Amino acid sequence: MAEDLSQQERELIANLIRDGKPVPARYIPSISDNPLKTELIWPGKSTLMDTSVLPFQSIEHIDEPRKGTNQQYDLFSMSESTGRQSGGWTNKLIWGDNKLILSSLANGPLRQEIEKAGGLKLIYIDPPFDVGSDFSVDIEVGEESISKKPSVIEEVAYRDTWGRGQDSFASMIYERLMIMKDLLASDGSIYVHCDWRVSGLMRMLMDEVFGAENFLNHIIWTYNTRTMTTPYYARKHNDIFFYSRNSGSQIFNADEVRVDLKPESLVQYNKIDEEGKRYKAQSNGGRTYLNELGQPCPDVWNIQILGSRDVERTGYATQKPEALLERIIRASSREGDLVADFFAGSGTTLATAEKLGRKWIGADLGRFAIHTTRKRLISIQREAAKQGLPFRAFEILNLGGYERAHQVGLDPTLDEQSKALQAKIKREEFVDLILSAYGAQKSDQLVPFSGSKGGTAILVGGIDQAVTQDQVQQAIDAALAVGISRVDVLGFEFEMGISPAMSDSAKEQGLTLTIRYIPNEVFDKRAIAKGQVKFYEAGYVEAKCEVKNKTLKVSLTDFGVFYRQNDADETAAELRNGAAKVVVDQGQVVRVAKDKKGLITKENLTSNWQDWIDYWAVDFDFASQPETITVIEEGKEVKKRTGKFIFENEWQSFRTKADRSLELTSSPFSYADPGNYSVAVKVIDIFGNDTTRVFKIKVK
Ligand SMILES: C[S@@+](CC[C@H](N)C(=O)[O-])C[C@H]1O[C@@H](n2cnc3c(N)ncnc32)[C@H](O)[C@@H]1O
Repeated sequence: MAEDLSQQERELIANLIRDGKPVPARYIPSISDNPLKTELIWPGKSTLMDTSVLPFQSIEHIDEPRKGTNQQYDLFSMSESTGRQSGGWTNKLIWGDNKLILSSLANGPLRQEIEKAGGLKLIYIDPPFDVGSDFSVDIEVGEESISKKPSVIEEVAYRDTWGRGQDSFASMIYERLMIMKDLLASDGSIYVHCDWRVSGLMRMLMDEVFGAENFLNHIIWTYNTRTMTTPYYARKHNDIFFYSRNSGSQIFNADEVRVDLKPESLVQYNKIDEEGKRYKAQSNGGRTYLNELGQPCPDVWNIQILGSRDVERTGYATQKPEALLERIIRASSREGDLVADFFAGSGTTLATAEKLGRKWIGADLGRFAIHTTRKRLISIQREAAKQGLPFRAFEILNLGGYERAHQVGLDPTLDEQSKALQAKIKREEFVDLILSAYGAQKSDQLVPFSGSKGGTAILVGGIDQAVTQDQVQQAIDAALAVGISRVDVLGFEFEMGISPAMSDSAKEQGLTLTIRYIPNEVFDKRAIAKGQVKFYEAGYVEAKCEVKNKTLKVSLTDFGVFYRQNDADETAAELRNGAAKVVVDQGQVVRVAKDKKGLITKENLTSNWQDWIDYWAVDFDFASQPETITVIEEGKEVKKRTGKFIFENEWQSFRTKADRSLELTSSPFSYADPGNYSVAVKVIDIFGNDTTRVFKIKVK
């Protein structure tokens, strides 16, 4: 209040106001009747909470890890708590930027499901707090490992986070923390993991978003690593800030996380009472009993970080140990509670939650993070199945075409008429964008093509729908009619069966038809300007379906992709003598080596098609699960069919760090009834990209 000010300060302020000059911020609380609270201000700060709601698309369901393997499952199958098949909660792994995911969870129809599942009790996040670390991951190819460069989407996220240093990091995390607070149950709590780089900032941001009164503790996670001599004390810890949604109401199971008493303290409990309980005698004659469960867990945790050969290791650089998450989850949630990690990485929180019988939601924008997590959780399901323990179904979701529509400014919540009008205007902008990213010229002369590149006609697919076989056929016919011999079809998604079947038949008619994926990176103008946007050719899958006595066995027979990440010759030129590097060039993974005399050798590590495959899965009855989405129309929730089908992941084989082998034939699957069935085969390559093909079979 103004009384706090000295006479001199009052005169200073009065003079400033009279002269129309700004009053220093430190005086504002004293001259305003609206007392300000302590607040962190940085360039670009916005306190507006994102409330966009986009519908989630279910890409894949994983109910039973290996149908047909005759293992004894207890998929909690008929109980309330099972998951999707009995109408209970299904765990969710969501691929995409967590800002849109969080706002869609908080404000959309899934919010109700979350509340029905008891509300979100615990959030743990480990955001990318290390400026130096990027989204690179080490991928195993046979005995070698290759560093996968970040996708441009990941680079965009990285730039959004660090483009303006700590200011952009503050904006990134602040916007998300606000929505996380909104999502947390009233007895929930949040743990935010970081280190010295952002811990000062993070503590203040957490105080601001959650309220200083909800601060519970600052946990020091300390570990032993090789110590280098530095001109400061060795940095041997990370910081984890622990806040409640409402101080005092938070779940905290102190007994679940007690730790052993130190031997020197234990020896003091040297007396045993009539019931055999240990205690120590007090000087006043009283007794202090030993709690057999140990002493309360302190806030300095010594938990070893994962070593490079640790069995838990997934190849994800920033992976945290399950022991760390186990303590957090045991303390701050109960069995059956819902736990979330919106920066899931390799899925440590989700894997630990699953093992501890909690429900979970995870999100990450890296395809590879989602793939790593999928394999990790399937392995847990398989292990539980082997031991006859219960496990829960999970689904993989994204905001898919809707996220892209949002990025080009389309509002998916508009009614159909307004949406169509908006789409017409936006379609042209969208086509221009794609053509410029592809380096093609626009042309209205040759319907259905939108432009050309050299002598190649370009067909651009829709923003939020898959390119259909009909569209491709029309393009083939139009090209052949006017003597065009090369056509490139660009799309975000393709109806099943286009690649390679339609390219093969076009070839017979003298037309080179190339199917290419439009990468989501086209929405980043900086990436286009730098020429970083790459349109990959669609991969192809060949498989043999053998049906005998109503039983099907699927065998993979071929697979192909075309990638390029480095130039093998450039890499060779840059290599030191005696060094080697694994690169991806001309669609092959190549080990480039220079001997001591500077002689260069190149060895192809993917000479066999199987070397490209990290994982493959089968849905034995693909048409059995039509996809539906829930949208809000005129304030009401409406379920709509999208016309697509959900991939039911019924059998799969994949490589792990410990076991690099891959089965190429599925277990036999028996159909109850004869009929025509669609069998979908999904292959995920070593870079985490997937290609799916549907085969039609007849069961007699
Ligand atoms: C430090 S890592 C998390 C590691 C994880 N705790 C583990 O044990 O594996 C951070 C993760 O956040 C993800 N990420 C960064 N920005 C994101 C965003 N905007 N939306 C979703 N995920 C994001 C990155 O892809 C990365 O996997």
